[in-house]
Amino acid sequence: MSDRRLNINNINPHVRAAKYAVRGELATKAEQYRVRLANGDKSLPFDSVIFANIGNPQQLDQKPITFFRQVLSILEYPNLLENEEALKTSFGYKQDVIDRAKKLLKDVGNVGAYSQSHGAPAIRDSVAKFIERRDGFPSDKDQIYLSGGASSAVNTLLHVICEGPQTGVLVPIPQYPLYTATLAVLNAHCVPYHLEEEKAWGTDISTIRQSLEKAKAEGIDVRAIVVINPGNPTGASLSREDIKSVIDLAVEERMVILADEVYQTNVFIGEFTSFKKRLRELQQEFPGKYDNVELASMHSVSKGMVGECGHRGGYFELVGFDPEVSAQIYKFISIMLCPPVIGQCLVELMVNPPKEGDPSYELYQQEYNGIKEGLHKRALALYEAFKKMEGVECQEPQGAMYLFPTIKLPQKAVAAAAAENRPADEFYCLRLLDATGVCVVPGTGFGQKEGTLHFRTTFLAPGTDWVERITKFHAQFMDEFR
Ligand SMILES: Cc1ncc(COP(=O)(O)O)c(C=O)c1O
Repeated sequence: MSDRRLNINNINPHVRAAKYAVRGELATKAEQYRVRLANGDKSLPFDSVIFANIGNPQQLDQKPITFFRQVLSILEYPNLLENEEALKTSFGYKQDVIDRAKKLLKDVGNVGAYSQSHGAPAIRDSVAKFIERRDGFPSDKDQIYLSGGASSAVNTLLHVICEGPQTGVLVPIPQYPLYTATLAVLNAHCVPYHLEEEKAWGTDISTIRQSLEKAKAEGIDVRAIVVINPGNPTGASLSREDIKSVIDLAVEERMVILADEVYQTNVFIGEFTSFKKRLRELQQEFPGKYDNVELASMHSVSKGMVGECGHRGGYFELVGFDPEVSAQIYKFISIMLCPPVIGQCLVELMVNPPKEGDPSYELYQQEYNGIKEGLHKRALALYEAFKKMEGVECQEPQGAMYLFPTIKLPQKAVAAAAAENRPADEFYCLRLLDATGVCVVPGTGFGQKEGTLHFRTTFLAPGTDWVERITKFHAQFMDEFR
């Protein structure tokens, strides 16, 4: 019996109830394997661990974009500007790197100081201009809130939205578990709506309506809908028509829309249209009908070709929120003081990269395209491998950083999993990790239709060796349990 005041049974039960498989048991075990290998352990049947469980590009050798890091280096150590010649001749910094760093230092001041709670005004202004260029509609810098990644934006918004245990938020299934976990912590209802795997993981409005009606009949106050576009773990982009259907539903049911658009540049098939753009188009087309829509859209430096997850930068834009509610959002984020200032600077660089004709443009473009093409190539290689695996079906890679194949496992494997008191996909993923060092996440971590099994893998890891490890393991697993 421990003397400690805190134990697992008396802490906040809602924290205990929250689930976050992306960094759960499998990831912990994978890290233990990594440490064992680093310490020279030769007893494992693999010589490297592949962290395909999380969209963390630079952990998997994606190189940061040179322009971004050169500017950041000066922001962190402005004394470098005392010898601009050395920066240029010895380190290859171009004049636009130096100019941008000087401008940011002037706008932001010292990156070691707190900024305004919702971020430096000049950076919010850059974000607003980026949104204007992207969508062709005005954006107001005072409705932009910089954040420590999209996670912190979601955390803020859900805290403010959730009034009590009767509050419900519609969340796509499968989903990125940030949403279910945060709702669990807030003791609010996740109201799941299933995406349609047979229709390339499309969003079906009648399915959403069914979930909504069921929740309402149970007395749940459903007041917001989350849309992840392009999707995680599915990669699917919503069509303009689907976006309209979601907005129409939000109007009818008076729901806030939370549009998670962190993968907006990771698109292979289809086209990204932002919720903000679609909303503004509809407002123009049908005057009055869409005036009261409340939309919060999120973006991040973690994904796309930027991949700077560790710098924790992002933003959300509010449209149509009551100013008194916005003031409470401002107060809420003020309690955390401000998002990381260097992360804010990365947001500025992401939304305002070198332009054609700028000295850094060519290299930037080369690096950006190289990352984009590499992601697509690896996604296709993995997809081709999955197509050949017995009992595995996978939708064509559409975007984001993930594939989410269905697996049909032999009955004996399902029984062996049940004997260990595990879902069958978790059993499969653990066996995969133990045999190959490849860490993926079981579909149970994201939610899936009953009776189906999946796993999610990123396609970030370089090379094809690890893909071969998966195919070889799979064949052996099927033979063992057939
Ligand atoms: C859909 C989605 N939203 C939000 C996030 C969180 O990103 P950030 O690093 O910006 O907090 C992720 C991370 O994987 C994600 O996949």
